[in-house]
Amino acid sequence: MKTAIVVSGGDAPGINAAIEAFARLAQDGGDHVVGAQDGFAGLLEGRLTELDRSLLSRLSGGGGSILRSSREPVLSQPEAAERLRAVMRANDIDNLLVFGGDGSLKHVLPLLERWGAPAVALPTTIDNDVAGTDYTLGHDSACNYALQAVEGIRATAGALPGRIFMLETLGGHTGYLALAIAHASGADAVLLPEYEFELDWLAQRARRVVQRAGYALVALCEFVPGIDSIVEELPRRSGIRLRYTALGHAQRGADASHYDRTVARDMSRLAWRALQDGLRLGVVALQDGRLTMREGTMPLHDKAPPDYDLYQQINGL
Ligand code: F6P
Repeated sequence: MKTAIVVSGGDAPGINAAIEAFARLAQDGGDHVVGAQDGFAGLLEGRLTELDRSLLSRLSGGGGSILRSSREPVLSQPEAAERLRAVMRANDIDNLLVFGGDGSLKHVLPLLERWGAPAVALPTTIDNDVAGTDYTLGHDSACNYALQAVEGIRATAGALPGRIFMLETLGGHTGYLALAIAHASGADAVLLPEYEFELDWLAQRARRVVQRAGYALVALCEFVPGIDSIVEELPRRSGIRLRYTALGHAQRGADASHYDRTVARDMSRLAWRALQDGLRLGVVALQDGRLTMREGTMPLHDKAPPDYDLYQQINGL
């Protein structure tokens, strides 16, 4: 069996561990594995590379992806199906191992199914926003990265009190990541793109927390509407100085946590076995606390919005 590994969309911590684990299982089992550079754009151009086992072992715990990704929607091009078939034929590729987040999986898997290209996908994004799985690889590492930042913020906030600290996380249009971080870090408030809030409420809550605890920690998702005006207006309405930390892409490139390295290896094992058993199309998903192979594509609808009860609890509502 020969598998081509393709990384599509945003990279995530744990991808390297999963690539390493898959390559090791496959090669030790007598199979052949190659990697596509630059996602599907590179695959369609036949940009395939051998996987260097010793390099993979050395980089397996690091963030990013040893195989470059791409967000180019090349599979929508009219000749994409034919080009994919030609590359697979020319390189004796039997099937694909695809890494991708919500956008990639919704877009790519139905096409691969229609074109009869056997593939197994691993949901990988720090955002944890893919419907059909309770977990996406990389989320835990991105949370841990944020928790380290919170430790630093709390240290300086305690030393020089009287301020509001806002911590902006990635997460795109979805608030799962910010909510998870706010929950674990004991933030005083959390702002998510899915739920509206009143600035006067936030000013009052921050004032009360600062009076009681010396400083207030507010976690928010990067796509909360009107962040610039919140940052300008909140100090005016609360009468308290504000300091802002944006984690940005440093968060996405975090080292893989113990949990993500473990999940990465278990996902790869399931994927390799399924491909060996001749599965045509599937996704490794976490459901009810267990990793399972979901046959077929993923749901096309969005994941249910972030836990509203938890949102209210953190915000004292
Ligand atoms: O992959 C998910 C994600 O990291 C989001 O959290 C973020 O909004 C987005 O990707 C950033 O995308 P890009 O790397 O294209 O700037």
